[in-house]
Amino acid sequence: MKQNKLAVIILAAGEGTRMKSAIAKVAHRVAGRSLVSWVVAAAKGLNPAEMCLIVGHKADQVRAVVAGEKIGFAVQKNQRGSGHAVLQCAPRLGKFQGDILVLCADTPLITTDTLRSFLTYHRTSAHAVSILSAEFGNPFGYGRIVRRADGSVQGIVEEKDATGEQRKIREINSGIYCFSSPAIWQALKKIKPDNAKKEYYLTDVIEILNNAGQTAGACSLGVPTEILGVNTRVELAQAERLMNARILRRHMLNGVTIIDPDTTYISPDARIGADTVIYPGTVIEGATVIGERCVIKPHSVLTDARVDADALIGPFAHLRAGSVLKAGAKVGNFSEIKKSVIGPRSKVNHLSYIGDAILGADVNVGAGTITCNYDGEKKHTTTIGDRVFVGSNTNLVAPVTVGADAVIGAGSTITDAVPARSLALARARQINKAEYRKKRK
Ligand code: UD1
Ligand code: CA
Repeated sequence: MKQNKLAVIILAAGEGTRMKSAIAKVAHRVAGRSLVSWVVAAAKGLNPAEMCLIVGHKADQVRAVVAGEKIGFAVQKNQRGSGHAVLQCAPRLGKFQGDILVLCADTPLITTDTLRSFLTYHRTSAHAVSILSAEFGNPFGYGRIVRRADGSVQGIVEEKDATGEQRKIREINSGIYCFSSPAIWQALKKIKPDNAKKEYYLTDVIEILNNAGQTAGACSLGVPTEILGVNTRVELAQAERLMNARILRRHMLNGVTIIDPDTTYISPDARIGADTVIYPGTVIEGATVIGERCVIKPHSVLTDARVDADALIGPFAHLRAGSVLKAGAKVGNFSEIKKSVIGPRSKVNHLSYIGDAILGADVNVGAGTITCNYDGEKKHTTTIGDRVFVGSNTNLVAPVTVGADAVIGAGSTITDAVPARSLALARARQINKAEYRKKRK
């Protein structure tokens, strides 16, 4: 097979009216990344010679979410349909010799593997255009693939323009096409907006090419879940669920136990070691890294945290950005950690806030301990040495240092450094008034 050069066009200029949003549709997120970023990543896997993103509606928002990507842009000023959008790439790609793959930025689940198989299909067939299709049980809203008696593709008809008979067709257009250039550019110019939406439909090029004596082919690669188009918030939630299931599956196959995949959410950038067990309701965000054999009890939230092996987390623990739990550390119920290091085997078991702190090894932090890290203007550091015992309900007013092996009495408000091995008590002494109730009567 001849290895043609490849250019990729990604459509992202549409209004996305059905989202009812002030945010550009393709800037909405699935599993923490924008819809368009997912599609750009899948296309990048093919190593194309050129990649062109068509922006228009809320173009600045769309450009912002792909900032840093090596891609070119074309601008579609007025949203006159997907066919009109692709035409805006003519100045960039009009002379391109090779295959042109057209993708929609609202189809985030598409994978590089499927795109590669689709390219192979196109390159081994003699069609001027190939369409990636799928069989949908409920094809509502998608363009239908109309085939002739001999199986060849005659055209695509949109839901709104379809006859009753055509609406029964279950083979749908994914919005992913491959063109052998330069046939595409002549055909695009012939599209007319004679349809229910008065738009220049990209899908009309199929019939136009047919009429010019060229052929179109459609293949379903058996991956219907990858071509879900996101047009509404309902489909956004469906995409989230499917993407999350895909991420979780990868971790499970790598040896992570996920007790309830339906209520567990893991960022695509997270890494998790084998034999870690994750209980229901847990959310793992950002570039969180978790070691082996950790246990994360229900309803914990971890964001950009690093957790070493054998740590115990939750239930209801919150590890915010910059949290580091060393091996065997424990952060329990209703405890929040922010930008702090919890040393090996140290415990923050109940109802605590630890922010901007560095804890050594084998520290025991009693229930309700709070680092007072913020003075209203600046954040300050709390440093706690190895084997310190912090009594319950202690306030540590930062900046403050507690030396190794020190003990802090429960209920203390610590404002001054505590020397190593000493006991610090910083609370009012108890007063007892004898026979108090009797006198009051
Ligand atoms: C489109 C297809 C439909 C297919 C479905 C798959 C057309 C006419 N129809 O329908 O056959 O089944 O995708 O998901 O293409 N866009 C622009 N500029 C515009 C209009 C749209 O850039 O003026 C972009 C959108 O940002 C989007 C893509 O084109 O990425 C598709 O547009 P959309 O309105 O979502 O089309 P669908 O109705 O979903
Ligand atoms: Ca769409």
